[in-house]
Amino acid sequence: MATTITVTGAGGQIGYALLFRIAAGDMLGPDEKVRLRLLEIPQGVKAAEGAALELEDGAFELLESVDVTDDAEVGFDGCNLALLVGARPRGPGMERGDLLAANAGIFGPQGAAIAARAASDVRVTVVGNPANTNALIASASADGVPADRFSALTRLDENRARAQLAATLETPVAAVRRVTIWGNHSATQFPDVSHATVYGRPVLDALAERVEDVQDWLEGTFIPRVAKRGAEIIEVRGSSSVASAANAAIEHTRDWVRGSTEWTSAAVVSHGEYGVPQGLMSSFPVRAVDGRWEIVEGLAVDDWARARIEASVAELIEERDAVRELGVLR
Ligand code: NAI
Repeated sequence: MATTITVTGAGGQIGYALLFRIAAGDMLGPDEKVRLRLLEIPQGVKAAEGAALELEDGAFELLESVDVTDDAEVGFDGCNLALLVGARPRGPGMERGDLLAANAGIFGPQGAAIAARAASDVRVTVVGNPANTNALIASASADGVPADRFSALTRLDENRARAQLAATLETPVAAVRRVTIWGNHSATQFPDVSHATVYGRPVLDALAERVEDVQDWLEGTFIPRVAKRGAEIIEVRGSSSVASAANAAIEHTRDWVRGSTEWTSAAVVSHGEYGVPQGLMSSFPVRAVDGRWEIVEGLAVDDWARARIEASVAELIEERDAVRELGVLR
């Protein structure tokens, strides 16, 4: 049996960086055959077809088939994993409400098509921005599919945070663990190092030996650097993050399916954990156990951290309310 994976926006940049790695086994391992469904809008079909030709030329032994379509019902038919990458970017002069409305027009119908056509074990990773709220919209539109089958990507933010810590501590990134991203995948996100470890030792202790004032460094250097890294990449590279985003999407989905030993970060549905209103898709510390994300509970959250989390969650509430006004959420 092969796993059927639907990638939306497959003709775009992240799609191009994702498909070949999936076909090479980076996501599901060297023993799992894959069938790819590339879902695009009509204007993107040619680019997706080009990627399909190159996938053929890759002669990937794990790749059983590649289909390109602009019909969501066909694209999600029988799919076990969906990576929702295609989204409407913010155009010039576009207000946030317009952006949310445009994306509701994409993620609502896709959620409905997933409910109608996907396999009963479907899991959906949302990458397209605004990722948390797009996941909420897709989930709300997917009648009969449990909300915990939807999650949105904050792994890139976590990876960025771990890499910044590793650079500052002059240590391999593998030694840095338990960094949490809370809230929204946006500039309000809270990268939290209070439970992070380096070689098992508290990161905060290690930082105290490296920087003059840890709190100043966190607030003035680390958090802005992580939260604004996307803008930094655009400025330096002249184009948004692509390969690192695709890599994070692969790691996120791989952990979800195959399990994670260590905790990581993902935006998942809240049941009220850490005071985050029930039903929001907010980033939490999570572990993947038996194909499900489990929120790591019981962590101490001090007043400063709580205020940071609440600020990001407030933004998620605003986005949810704006979408609710559009009549997309029940
Ligand atoms: P891109 O513009 O290169 O590609 C997007 C593709 O989606 C285009 O080919 C477009 O035709 C397609 N598309 C648009 N609407 C669609 C629909 N209804 N169904 C199927 N396909 C559709 O953009 P790129 O660089 O690939 O980024 C994709 C998304 O990922 C953006 O929303 C971006 O903001 C987001 N992103 C998220 C990150 C995260 O960490 N969560 C990190 C980096 C990017």
